[in-house]
Amino acid sequence: MTREEALESIKANVENKNLIKHMLATEAIMRALARHLGQDEEEWGLTGLLHDIDMELTEGDMNIHSKLGADLAREMGASEAMAHAILCHNEKHGIPRETMLDKALFCADPLTGLITSAALVRPDKKLAGLVAKSVRKKFKEKSFAAGVSREQISLCSEIGFELDEFIELGLVAMQGIAAELGL
Ligand SMILES: [Fe+2]
Repeated sequence: MTREEALESIKANVENKNLIKHMLATEAIMRALARHLGQDEEEWGLTGLLHDIDMELTEGDMNIHSKLGADLAREMGASEAMAHAILCHNEKHGIPRETMLDKALFCADPLTGLITSAALVRPDKKLAGLVAKSVRKKFKEKSFAAGVSREQISLCSEIGFELDEFIELGLVAMQGIAAELGL
């Protein structure tokens, strides 16, 4: 599967522009994590890119979400490792996260939301001037972007990251595609 094919499939299955941006942001963080950890950047990036492809198809039914996504990814030629990471990123299925890829996707997913929210409360609503320290502050403010699971982000420890380092990596990764994210 090429990145172009993955993007085509996303465009065919997802209308919500913010959801597509969320998947692009997750891809960027997953690529950065793969580079940092000496993993397969393409595999990790495409896993991040595709992970919510079924969100609209499943109409928010969390009992189906990510099962269908994993099947769609497999049909597109994703490896079993990629499909598994997509499948278990939805905790509802109770499938344990086993590999580094599983664990990376799980903690990268909510980090995009925290960083996006932190950018949107800035006067310019841009990522460019945002610094990791401010994101860290927002992380501690429980009422800020309350839907973002701090606990889930903190599981970056399972892939060997300190929280500060993880936030920094995520922020730089998203800043690298700021134009695509419209931030
Ligand atoms: Fe997601």
